Amino acid sequence: QGQSDYQMPLAGRTVTITAGGTREPLDPVRFLGNRSSGKQGVALAVAARNAGATVRFVAAHMEVPPPAGVEVVRVETALQLREAALEAANGSDVVIMSAAVADFRPAEISDTKIKKRDDTADPVITLVRNPDILQELVEQRNGGAGGAPQLIVGFAAETGDSQGGVLAYAEAKLQRKGCDLLVVNHVGTDKVFGQDSNSVVILSRSGAEPQEASGTKTEVSDAIISRISFELNHVSP
Ligand code: CTP
Ligand code: CA
Repeated sequence: QGQSDYQMPLAGRTVTITAGGTREPLDPVRFLGNRSSGKQGVALAVAARNAGATVRFVAAHMEVPPPAGVEVVRVETALQLREAALEAANGSDVVIMSAAVADFRPAEISDTKIKKRDDTADPVITLVRNPDILQELVEQRNGGAGGAPQLIVGFAAETGDSQGGVLAYAEAKLQRKGCDLLVVNHVGTDKVFGQDSNSVVILSRSGAEPQEASGTKTEVSDAIISRISFELNHVSP
C-alpha cells in the first residue's frame, strides 16, 4: 500500500484544473484576450493524471490541445469559466486556478460588427470588473470524497514595479485571496507566456518556507503536484 501511495499519491482524488486565457467579446468578430498558451495548465493536468487523480479540466483559449485522459469543459469568457469552475470544484479535493482570467470585460457586447465610420467619434471601450473566481472558490470551499478539506491553489504572474517586488506582491495576493498555495511566476513580455520552461516559487498560507521549482513546464508541474500531494496526505487541517 505504501508503495502505491508513493507512486500514485493522488489515487482516488479529484482535481479541478482551469487553464488557458479567457476571451472577452466586443462584437461577433472581436475579443479582448491575453497571452496565456495553456501549456502550464496542460502540464499540470498530465502530472495530476499520472499521479492517479481524476482530472476535471476547464479550458479557456489554449494554443495546445487538452491532454488525453481528462474530462474537458471548454469555455470562452471569465463568466463562463466561473460557472464551470464552481461546478467542477464541487466534490473536488483540489482546485488549481492556472487559467489567465480577464480582470475586466467590455461593459457592452455589440450584436453586430462594430463599423468604422467617418461621421462619428472614435469609439471608447468601457470595461467592467469580472468576478474573482479564486476568491469565490475559497468562500464556497468544500471537501472532496477523500475527507480532507479542499486544497485551493492560485497562480500569480507578477512583474514587480516601482511600488514593490515580485515576492512582496505575491505574499499580499496570497493573503488577500485566502488560497492555500500560490504559485508565483516572474513575468516579462518574453518570459513564461508560450515558453516551454519556467521558474516558479510556491508560497504557502500556512507559513512554510517559499519553495522554488524550475525546469521545463513538465518538471515544474511535477513539483507542484508533489507539493499538493504532500499537503493533502501529510499536512493536517
Ligand atoms: N483569478 C480569478 N479570477 C479573476 C482573476 C484572477 O480566479 N477574475 C485567479 C487566477 O486564475 C490566478 C489568481 O487569481 O490563480 C491570481 O491572478 P492574478 O491575475 O495574478 O491576480 P489578480 O487578483 O487579478 O491581481 P492583478 O491582476 O491585479 O495582479
Ligand atoms: Ca489579474
